[in-house]
Amino acid sequence: MNQDHEINRRALLTGVCALLALSGLEALPASASNEIRKLVNGRVSVKLKNLPELSKVGGSVGIGNIKGKPVAITRTGDSSYVAFSLSCPHQKVTVSWEGNGWVCGAHGSEFEADGDLVLGPATTRLPRVPMKISKGVATIG
Ligand code: FES
Repeated sequence: MNQDHEINRRALLTGVCALLALSGLEALPASASNEIRKLVNGRVSVKLKNLPELSKVGGSVGIGNIKGKPVAITRTGDSSYVAFSLSCPHQKVTVSWEGNGWVCGAHGSEFEADGDLVLGPATTRLPRVPMKISKGVATIG
């Protein structure tokens, strides 16, 4: 591959990543395409057992935007889950999954897998988002 092709490929990949970030889809795992559905009321339904990220307690996965805000689900027990916003309570920057928790790249706040606060400058946990679970399907928002 010559240098022009390499530069064009890099520019294309950068553009695709920028598009995904703008569309709010960057938090969606590849496994989620058939397991997460947007509902007409702005909520989202998720087939919990079909997401490999949630197969173990402590597993967490971003499910995309709900009503304009990025949201994640974490498995907290054999059959318990929490949903919470991925907007850092400090200045609303979207946090990222790193290792076994969530980290804000803006000023370094850290959160447990379930959104509990570990380290500031944020002073509260990642805000919970309402979730109801029926027959293994969560309705969130
Ligand atoms: S916006 Fe997250 S730590 Fe400041």
